[in-house]
Amino acid sequence: MKMNMMKTSAAALAFVATVMVSGTSFAAGDTPRAPAQNWSFNKLFGSFEPAAAQRGFQVYKEVCSGCHSMSLLSYRHLSQLGFSEDEVKAIAASVEVTAGPNDEGEMFERPGIPADRFKAPFANVQAAAAANNGKAPPDLSLMTKARVGGADYVYGLLVGYEEAPSGVEVPEGGNYNKYFPGHVIAMGPPLSDESVEYTDGTKPTLSQHAKDVTTFMAWAAEPEMEARKRMGVKVLLFLLVLTGMLYAVKRKVWENLH
Ligand code: HEC
Repeated sequence: MKMNMMKTSAAALAFVATVMVSGTSFAAGDTPRAPAQNWSFNKLFGSFEPAAAQRGFQVYKEVCSGCHSMSLLSYRHLSQLGFSEDEVKAIAASVEVTAGPNDEGEMFERPGIPADRFKAPFANVQAAAAANNGKAPPDLSLMTKARVGGADYVYGLLVGYEEAPSGVEVPEGGNYNKYFPGHVIAMGPPLSDESVEYTDGTKPTLSQHAKDVTTFMAWAAEPEMEARKRMGVKVLLFLLVLTGMLYAVKRKVWENLH
């Protein structure tokens, strides 16, 4: 009896160790985990690189926003990425939004203002699905938080399109992606070299586009990250000083007793 239990626990341990070492998730079948990238914002005191996030917004605007909404963002949030007030106004004004009703009870179109949310490409989920082979493109506001692997997964997904291995049947409207769970994704490869023309001299490669748009999405999912890290540093400094002071007080109080 005891022997059996030991065998069972040994087997369980071996299983856990295999999962940990191989890094595979069994729920996702044979989908490999996207390799970790060197993100500036994942470092202990790291921040979002504003130039990368700005280029990433350009990629989102010119490519992804054709299919994906980012409904939690307003245009005014872009000022946090270093866009000037006038630039934010111009970006907002470049879209037409439906507003109203006016005094006659009619809805009307007007140019966007900084307080508007990012305009969604489709009126509703059904329209989004109908235009994309029955799969609605998900909202990207919190995407880097919503998927296992976070930014590494999103980056891996964007660069992970390849020929299906022989013997694997990809159904009509599907695309083979190394890192998408199950490998068959309804989104065609959205990016390639020179998808977007950068104005700051950065080389417009597929991997650069993917890194930039992922940085932008990571910022969108946690715009308060930098403030949070700065607060962490302040708290640590405060605790350090407090420790020093308490130690000094302790020495003073015990002075005569030693
Ligand atoms: C032509 C439309 C289209 C464009 C353009 C597009 N996507 Fe998608 N995207 C889709 C569809 C459809 C899905 C849903 C795929 C599925 O579930 O099979 C999707 C899914 C995704 C997902 C979720 C994958 C998951 O794990 O569920 C991410 C992340 C994503 N897209 C990022 C992007 C980014 C970043 C861009 C711009 C560089 C982009 N997409 C451009 C149509 C598009």
